Amino acid sequence: MSFLSPDPDCSLCGLCSGRTNIVLPSGDPSSPVLLVGEGPGENEDLKGMPFIGRAGSILDGIMAEAGLPREKVLITNTVKCRPPGNRDPTEEEMAACRRFLDSEMESRALVVGLGKSAIRDLMGYTGPMGPVVNRKTKITVNGKEVDFLPTYHPMACVYRKAARESLLEAMRMIKEEFY
Ligand code: URA
Repeated sequence: MSFLSPDPDCSLCGLCSGRTNIVLPSGDPSSPVLLVGEGPGENEDLKGMPFIGRAGSILDGIMAEAGLPREKVLITNTVKCRPPGNRDPTEEEMAACRRFLDSEMESRALVVGLGKSAIRDLMGYTGPMGPVVNRKTKITVNGKEVDFLPTYHPMACVYRKAARESLLEAMRMIKEEFY
């Protein structure tokens, strides 16, 4: 499966002014499952890879516990350039990057939204996490329905055991259904 990538000199939104690298998806491009985080942090910006800093090591640990190798899925973010100071991406920034995310999501069996920004961008939901977490729903991608699983962001698991349990449960569900 191939997908659309930003030009190396992309300036579709203001995040281009602070970036070192555009952070493209990593993992298996043919995976039935796409994990969508919020946006690159400092390490990701420096190396050009998603989820390789602290959030990445938390995600790696939870995926390993679920028996789901990271290379088996595809991992991306709502925006491909680092928001300054790791602030949440704005709606305008997410909208500017959406064409790339749409092409990554298209034809997946399951898209997983990691945390509030991804859930806001993909489901349009801005309420508390509790009522939606780990409940599969559908989103529309380029006119077609795709299964969507909203769950916690790895950083939400740092001080919250219940969030970690939920993210682990989501990874176990993926392992069982797809691998
Ligand atoms: N947090 C995210 O949401 N994505 C990354 O790539 C890194 C940290």
